[in-house]
Amino acid sequence: MSGNPKKEHLFKVLVIGDLGVGKTSFIKRYVHQFFSVHYRATIGVDFALKVINWDEDTLIRLQLWDIAGQERFGNMTRVYYKEAVAAMIVFDCTRQSTFDAILTWKNDLDSKVLLPNGEPVPCLLLSNKCDEPKDGNLSNPSFLDSFCKQEGFIGWFDTSAKHNINVSESATFLVKHILETT
Ligand code: GTP
Ligand code: MG
Repeated sequence: MSGNPKKEHLFKVLVIGDLGVGKTSFIKRYVHQFFSVHYRATIGVDFALKVINWDEDTLIRLQLWDIAGQERFGNMTRVYYKEAVAAMIVFDCTRQSTFDAILTWKNDLDSKVLLPNGEPVPCLLLSNKCDEPKDGNLSNPSFLDSFCKQEGFIGWFDTSAKHNINVSESATFLVKHILETT
């Protein structure tokens, strides 16, 4: 007989945010260690699975739902959001307009899905393309700190899918939060 069987978790995590902010690039970097400068807009939704050997006793399957930015104007998000346990909302720190859309995404999320206990789904904010010069306020960490506190995000990270900055760190932060709260 072997020791205790591993605990296994399947977590559905949404990755949302405006067109071209780097959602697909973030996921490709995280799951496939790959980056491309070429932009091909996601149509509808894409999926990726990251298997994490969290510790000796725990295996996590992170099911990442890569939702097209153009879905903000569509009517499918309610279907895509179903049974998600967490979300990453991504903006492009070189384009203020993508930050301005964050709350529209969060309101869409909170109005369409809740955790089984009735709480909103935990959301992590990602300021992607941090390898590039930032737009206005978006270079101010204390501005983002207070924005997160005020709007109910669990935190934020500067990320770069291009240079592989904080990609696995931010995902690990989110998983840790999920494990501690479920
Ligand atoms: P939609 O599928 O339309 O919603 O877009 P998306 O959010 O999936 O964006 P995508 O990952 O396709 O990236 C859009 C463009 O930004 C591509 O040309 C990427 O190469 C570029 N890009 C993504 N991440 C980064 C980054 O961290 N730094 C830089 N400099 N460019 C990035
Ligand atoms: Mg995409």
